[in-house]
Amino acid sequence: MINKRNFKACVLTALAFTPMIMTAQEKISITLHPDQGKNIISRHIYGQFAEHLGTCIYGGLWVGENSSIPNTQGYRNDVLEALKALSIPNLRWPGGCFADEYHWMDGIGPREQRPRMVNNNWGGTVEDNSFGTHEFLNLCELLNCEPYVSGNVGSGSVEEMAKWIEYMTAQDGPMAKLRKQNGREKPWKVHFFGVGNECWGCGGSMRPEYYADLYRRYSTYCRNYNGNELFKIASGASDYDYNWTEVLMKNVGTRMNGLSLHYYTAMDWNKKGSATQFTEDDYYWTLGKCLEIEKVLQRHIDIMNHYDPDKNVGLMVDEWGTWWEQEPGTIPGHLFQQNTMRDAFVAALTLNVFHKYTDRIRMANIAQIANVLQSMILTREDQMVLTPTYYVFKMYKVHQDATFLPLDIQCKRRIVRDDRIIPTLSATASRDKQGCVHLSLANIDLKQSCEIEIPLGSLKAKHVSGEILTSADISDHNTFDHPDKVQPNTFNEAQINKGILRVTLPAKSIVTLTLK
Ligand code: AHR
Repeated sequence: MINKRNFKACVLTALAFTPMIMTAQEKISITLHPDQGKNIISRHIYGQFAEHLGTCIYGGLWVGENSSIPNTQGYRNDVLEALKALSIPNLRWPGGCFADEYHWMDGIGPREQRPRMVNNNWGGTVEDNSFGTHEFLNLCELLNCEPYVSGNVGSGSVEEMAKWIEYMTAQDGPMAKLRKQNGREKPWKVHFFGVGNECWGCGGSMRPEYYADLYRRYSTYCRNYNGNELFKIASGASDYDYNWTEVLMKNVGTRMNGLSLHYYTAMDWNKKGSATQFTEDDYYWTLGKCLEIEKVLQRHIDIMNHYDPDKNVGLMVDEWGTWWEQEPGTIPGHLFQQNTMRDAFVAALTLNVFHKYTDRIRMANIAQIANVLQSMILTREDQMVLTPTYYVFKMYKVHQDATFLPLDIQCKRRIVRDDRIIPTLSATASRDKQGCVHLSLANIDLKQSCEIEIPLGSLKAKHVSGEILTSADISDHNTFDHPDKVQPNTFNEAQINKGILRVTLPAKSIVTLTLK
């Protein structure tokens, strides 16, 4: 929350603060620092999350080999192709809240013999366990991404967790033998391993002191087999719970490789608001709430810096994104929501913030990959829709593992509901391994285009090309009847002349430029 004191500070630091009654096109200047790049934007910031929730797994990713929907070993072909185009770096599974009720042994062996269970967290749906460890890890191999497996602390035993790791990663021994009997000779590589999820809530309703001790105990038995090195991630805070981070850093410290954080852009939890029907005021409020993640990150990072100045422990924002009312007519508890240009802005602005803290943030996972919350993909039977958020991830993939280049942006700001202050422009830049600079720009304003001037300094780029994501209305989205309403197009409104890049950015647009 912005209180009176820091509100004033924000106003003073705003370079050209004006209450937003504007008619002329805004002129914005950006100072790019091409020589100041030192941190790599970890590709793992572009991570995804697939939970046994609604139709994320069943119907979204997995239809089974016998389905009439075209599939490869049970995975939908259309979804596989769409996801491959995103270069997904890692995929978190099986939850979420589901992870702390999941018993992995129920999900191995012949599918017809696997026991069924009730998915108590998500609508009481009966889960048949046909998608289990093999199905998940094989999917990661097909997508060429790293698995991030979440272990069960809330209702599982230390032994169960230890054996799961042995089953997945050991070359020999009883668990490896069982895996081989189930058809997988070679161990998989599993680097990222979560020791519980939301242990303050659905993962066991624990106090941080108690969980810190449990983390120490469970993680002791998370072993490295045959050169597989686990990166152990402790269950972290929800948004403003700084005490959780403090207690974990103090009592666990570098026994964990990563500490998670969850931050959802949501309105009142009892009245989340429609995904598609919202006012201009709601739109700007949403971006204010989204951008507040920066202050939240800074406070968690300050605590981490105090206990771990060498930055050995990564901050893993392993759940983030928008959370609206589920679509009318869908199954309660399945969290199926539409995804508009407003969600695309939340994705772009959040990624822009993550890039700035990439020296501490080692991973982030948008919730979730298909059919749940802020998804990349929506499916209905054999149909598939790519969301505006999908296109942001596609346009932004050039930033994966690139060197972050700092920027100073001089633009107007607006005060939005709940006294938050947001800029009219959000931007980020990076240099990839081939030396190309990529600049992503988001004009937040719903009505006005802006003219941006960027002196390139030591950057000797001569050519600029780009892609734009925009639509007539901020609530525009893709549906099964109109799947292509929102999609990126070639962008021609950028020119380099005498070392200055000039861009005209339409209202409510997101652009990624490549400078060569
Ligand atoms: O992403 C949906 C749910 O949100 C997850 O299961 C849980 O961890 C969080 O509360």
